[in-house]
Amino acid sequence: MPAARRTLFVTTALPYANGPFHIGHIMEYIQADVWVRFQRMRGAEVHFVCADDAHGAPIMLKAEGEGITPEQLIERVGASHREDWARYLISFDTTHSTHSPENTELAQSIYRALRDRTPSLIESRTIEQFYDPVKGMFLPDRYIKGECPKCGAKDQYGDACENCGSTYAPTDLRNPTSAITGATPELRSSEHLFFRLSAPEVVAFLRRWTATPAEGQSLQPEVYNKVREWLGDGKLSDWDISRDAPYFGIPVPDAKGKYFYVWLDAPIGYLAALRKHFDSGAARRAYPHETRSFDEFVADPAVEQYHFIGKDIVYFHTLFWPATLHFSGRKTPTNVFVHGFITASGEKMSKSRGTGV
Ligand code: 2FM
Ligand code: ZN
Repeated sequence: MPAARRTLFVTTALPYANGPFHIGHIMEYIQADVWVRFQRMRGAEVHFVCADDAHGAPIMLKAEGEGITPEQLIERVGASHREDWARYLISFDTTHSTHSPENTELAQSIYRALRDRTPSLIESRTIEQFYDPVKGMFLPDRYIKGECPKCGAKDQYGDACENCGSTYAPTDLRNPTSAITGATPELRSSEHLFFRLSAPEVVAFLRRWTATPAEGQSLQPEVYNKVREWLGDGKLSDWDISRDAPYFGIPVPDAKGKYFYVWLDAPIGYLAALRKHFDSGAARRAYPHETRSFDEFVADPAVEQYHFIGKDIVYFHTLFWPATLHFSGRKTPTNVFVHGFITASGEKMSKSRGTGV
């Protein structure tokens, strides 16, 4: 008897809609594309989708700097991404954007499912953060600069020191200034929503999923080692998933002036792109026997789900993403395939250091 045909849902990481691709993006698309073509040649039904990752403060501020709206910026960059995917013959079946009705609906319903569980996995807490009084906004860590609290190096970002490698909270920086206006930031409090990753049921689930993401599957050994380090002492921190206006993102339901942090809605964009793929009829056109709806397809345990990603976003894909899916009552990924960086003289390529391509 011939083996049952495999059905695969495959993605690459979603590129930020803030600029053109570099060689690292293209490498990942080609890597995934080769694998997808191979699976198709073996007779598998493969749905290969991507989307632009369109939200967040950097996109909002870049658009403002250009004197255009974030919508105009993501449309312009989106067009260049679509052109490049076509030029490189990447065989995505459908491409989309996280700034879309599908993603808004999915992100909000996933959030409601996490919030409305018993016990709830969403907790509201008041936290203190740096606020730029000139710009009138809370500052993301990367928009605060100051002296490293450990080694004193000047001009360091609010999350980590490039000189000594230590990580810290922005409030630990000495002589902090806003990278947007140069103003001295003020500490202000604000209510934020946290996904309780430290809850024992979440930690127990993540230990299981990371050890065996699906039957017969395991993470790459290097990836699993790193993940075990994060999970090892059971000290997973709760995850702040909300941001205050002004922010370019998806509104949090029942929380005026709050938006989802971009990393909450970005991976949900995988599902949004797949939903568009099904709702537009593209899935059916590619595979006429595929008569399932999007909801039926994603819930089917026989459908395999793979994400190609770079090593810098392993944390999000092996902890946040499976937990988000599982505890909102959804199926979790079959596996994630992680690649390293392209290097120049042993260093990660970097536009600012003049080694980018
Ligand atoms: O690191 C990045 O470039 C992100 N835009 C990747 C997002 S992948 C997924 F989660 F959307
Ligand atoms: Zn330092």
